[in-house]
Amino acid sequence: MSRVLTALQPSGILHIGNYFGAIEPMVKMQDAGNENFLFAVDYHAITVPQDPEELRKNLLFAAAAYLAAGVDPVKTTLFQQSRVPQHTELAWILNCVTNMGELERMTQYKDKARGKGESVTVGLFSYPVLMAADILLYNTDIVPVGDDQKQHLELARDLAERFNKRFGETFVVPGVQIRKTGARIMALDHPENKMSKSAPSPKGFISLMDDEKTVLKKMKSAVTDSGTVIEYDESRKGLANLMTIYNLVTGKSYEEIAAAYVGKGYGDFKTDLAGHVSAFLAPMQEKISKYLADPEELKRILEEGAEKARGIAEAKMVEVRKVIGVTL
Ligand code: TYM
Repeated sequence: MSRVLTALQPSGILHIGNYFGAIEPMVKMQDAGNENFLFAVDYHAITVPQDPEELRKNLLFAAAAYLAAGVDPVKTTLFQQSRVPQHTELAWILNCVTNMGELERMTQYKDKARGKGESVTVGLFSYPVLMAADILLYNTDIVPVGDDQKQHLELARDLAERFNKRFGETFVVPGVQIRKTGARIMALDHPENKMSKSAPSPKGFISLMDDEKTVLKKMKSAVTDSGTVIEYDESRKGLANLMTIYNLVTGKSYEEIAAAYVGKGYGDFKTDLAGHVSAFLAPMQEKISKYLADPEELKRILEEGAEKARGIAEAKMVEVRKVIGVTL
């Protein structure tokens, strides 16, 4: 049994990239009998401005979505990051063993800071340190994430090793788990970019709550190429991405998909794909709506998870405070 942990930002509606990159792998790890921790990182979300009412809504939506996707709060400790203050406490301590240069090299930071000049916030800069704290607090063995989080995970590993060297064995050095297919789902309208919730246009992503009509519209307008044969070819980025989504929602291999579309064009392929995506989402959407109808129950589940997480996190912090010399 391993300790498995991941987290997602409650910033806007979750999309199928988040689902296949992080949520589905977590549910699989849970069902395989591991000890799971899953949380909504609200303190990461506020590194960019958030409307407080929207944030509250997004937190409840995140909890509902995780449960609807198959997270069992008995087997998985499910909570809200800010309800476990040890995360920010450890982040401060880790800030003091992190070099500026390491954070300046983070590609996600560079992307988000581009054009902001001196007005970029300290929170956005030290965001990967808070993420390292999230992971190291729980003696995490495995972190399932999408491909875009790889560099942040490497920092968490480096910080664990550095801290252990300086203060003695304290943290488990976490392993990263990135799935083979679906670790980087691309934007439908710009297949050279990853599918993202912060994209300027909703055309690029399929939200977990998109209805049939919306999915069909987005699929129909998905960028492909002038080729005529439906086959998996990495250099045909748009089509390759759609075939990956097809594979994820139906379980059909690329060869099976290609065989089914011999002599057919993009039109048929996209219409069918939209149908498969909607059929995949429909049962989850129904469950999400059911969970959202009872916010008190969602809050109760999250608080129960936070209570459990606080116990584990505090035990780690007792150790950390002692080794760094602040416990008298
Ligand atoms: P976030 O909220 O941006 O994304 C949540 C998860 O979804 C994955 N993901 C994708 N996977 C495949 N294709 C995509 N297009 C795609 N877009 C996003 C992400 O890789 C991620 O696994 N910093 C993290 C949250 C975090 C965290 C942690 C993760 C905070 N603390 C501790 C793991 C452990 C983030 O912003 O993810």
